Amino acid sequence: MSSATENMFNRHEDVASRVRSLMDQMTLAEKIGQMCQLEATHGYAPDYLGERLRAGQVGSVINIVDVDAVNELQRIATEESRLGIPLLVGRDVIHGFKTVFPIPLGQAATWNPDVVEEGARVAALEAATNGVNWTFAPMVDISRDPRWGRIAESFGECVLLTSELGAAMVRGFQGEALDDNGSIAACAKHFAGYGAVESGRDYATTNIPDTKLRNVYFKPFKACIDAGVSTLMTSFSDLNGIPATGNSYILTDVLRGEWGFDGFVVSDWDSVRQLQVHGLTENDSESAYEAATAGVDMEMAGDAYSNHLAEHVESGRVDLAAIDAAVARILTIKFELGLFEASQTDPGSLPDIASKRALDAARAVATQSAVLLKNDHDILPLQRAALNSIAVIGPLADARYEQLGTWIFDGDEELSVTPWHAIRDFVGDDVELQYVRAMENSRSRANDEFHRAVEAASKSDAVLLFLGEESILSGEAHSRADIGLPGDQVELVRRVRAAGRPVIAVILAGRPLTLSDIVDEVDAILYAWHPGAMGGPAIADLLFGVESPSGKLPATFPRMVGQIPIYYSQKNGGKPPTQENVVHIDDIDAFAPQTSFGMSAFHLDTCFTPLFPFGHGLSYTTFEYHNIRASHEEICLGDVVTVSVDLANSGQVEAEEVVQLYTRDLVASLTRPVKELKGFRRVRLQPGATETISFDLHTDDLAFFGRDGQRTVEPGLFHAWIGGSSDAVQQTEFRIIAADQVSGANT
Ligand code: NOJ
Repeated sequence: MSSATENMFNRHEDVASRVRSLMDQMTLAEKIGQMCQLEATHGYAPDYLGERLRAGQVGSVINIVDVDAVNELQRIATEESRLGIPLLVGRDVIHGFKTVFPIPLGQAATWNPDVVEEGARVAALEAATNGVNWTFAPMVDISRDPRWGRIAESFGECVLLTSELGAAMVRGFQGEALDDNGSIAACAKHFAGYGAVESGRDYATTNIPDTKLRNVYFKPFKACIDAGVSTLMTSFSDLNGIPATGNSYILTDVLRGEWGFDGFVVSDWDSVRQLQVHGLTENDSESAYEAATAGVDMEMAGDAYSNHLAEHVESGRVDLAAIDAAVARILTIKFELGLFEASQTDPGSLPDIASKRALDAARAVATQSAVLLKNDHDILPLQRAALNSIAVIGPLADARYEQLGTWIFDGDEELSVTPWHAIRDFVGDDVELQYVRAMENSRSRANDEFHRAVEAASKSDAVLLFLGEESILSGEAHSRADIGLPGDQVELVRRVRAAGRPVIAVILAGRPLTLSDIVDEVDAILYAWHPGAMGGPAIADLLFGVESPSGKLPATFPRMVGQIPIYYSQKNGGKPPTQENVVHIDDIDAFAPQTSFGMSAFHLDTCFTPLFPFGHGLSYTTFEYHNIRASHEEICLGDVVTVSVDLANSGQVEAEEVVQLYTRDLVASLTRPVKELKGFRRVRLQPGATETISFDLHTDDLAFFGRDGQRTVEPGLFHAWIGGSSDAVQQTEFRIIAADQVSGANT
């Protein structure tokens, strides 16, 4: 055993024995107290909280971020309760704390685990100064419905991308060790399937076959567990008839039995009591019973556990051993966080809020997250020297709060640098600028200012239109049925377009919007998501070519809502659409007889393709992919095949490209998606340079969960593509063979 492993081992042993000896002294009431989290939203409520803390009835508090108040609560818990057990102090630190980073969906568009990890580290350091020691992030719900407001909090639609970025966030929050100064416990949420809510309505029902749970929705959680995540949160949603918070299949059979997760599980906000509303239980007492026996260790912001759990243990219905296991898991995290040694927070021992490191990191993520969706005639980047005047128009050009996005309880709006300010700073006196807000906010239907926008546009050499959604239109409980540009923005685009100047749309939004109404009305679209505090400078750098755009879509952009769900890893079906076997509604003859022969899975009134595919994103240079090849035509189970491509920067500027590897398992006992992302890498290339990019694929990377729920790799033919989006065309193939099929080709 190496000395590092030995230390780790001793540390685990040490924690385990400290937990055991503490638990030996605990009453049932004190144990149940550890399983209860109290809400402290309305500030420090010493009388109410203090009394319960002294009585040992509280394991955690949520939503208290005043460091003095937190320190006082910790003091009461550690000095005035019988056993002196410190508190977990939870807060939603989702994309930054004071320094707000791009929304997670924007962070996903970087396809860069390093910057995501650094963002989480910065957020942890800032949150820790306020006594927070537990965040409810990352959210790793696979999300294939842009109507769902919480897609903003997700990493999008792809299993691999979500898994890699979720794990990166866990590493950032938790650091090398939980008891490092500034580390906070992470929480992978919402287990499981929340992103599949029907019609994208938040909190709605989900129905997900077991094979899909295992091949899609579970995987990012497993990746977070492998990265050492301390806690998991249950989903509000009903999963196949059993709400996640009362679902022992996912919380016990899979999570504990199959994966051996040894952190703890917290419910979502009051979701234990909501088991009754779902129709699973008759009352709070039964809800407490169902949740606790399903595997929920701590109840968030509810009182079903505190009021009812003891009665079930006393009646023998709930085994004391189950309570002990839950409490041991909670105490283990408290020991690992070092709270028994130091529960008081000294902000002076941590870096300053909004430090240079924080602002630089926020800017880097914002820069890498913006996706250049179109750029006709290379209208971007703007050439400062060639322009006399620019019109900056739109409700989101100078809206400090709106650029921050959802879940920014602690975000400091004062740190926001808006695009309007950043553009002004960038061009200085060289270019004449005009700013017309035109709409009060993104939802506004009043168009009485539009003439001013048109006037400004007519007098300018180029128009920058800042459109999109305000923060409040995405996030929890903010789903939309129509995901076009809200308010009268489409009309604004049309009117400005009529002025005849080049129009560049910069879109700030919490989800993929349907852009069909404007895509042909503008020359370029830069999709910046809600880019956070440093969104302005990042956008200015991109518009003027200081940086080349390098973001790639983490979610498919539909043409219209009726196409949803539309995602790159769909199944082929028995009648896949091609240009030849679809028909458009306008081409159907009057009184046409019924037809179906030779036709396929498509909508009559739109294309079968999305507006922009997953992985798409342009650059100011051109990247060319050549010569894809596989190292072997055949490999045995357990072997590695290397898939390579030559990537050339054939344009004029240095830029970064996210190279993407996709595969398809052509024949399997369970049908497999037409493409699955299997690897990605951000590469920086000088103009004229060529680099060979290789990905090693172990046959295990091609495994899937089969009909029997078991993980399997089946021999057979695989296609592989490498390119700059999920529409990659450079294709090769290889075959996995069983050991008894080994032929000369592989030896
Ligand atoms: C409800 C949300 O679903 C969850 O994600 C969040 O962490 C909790 N509220 C706490 O605010």
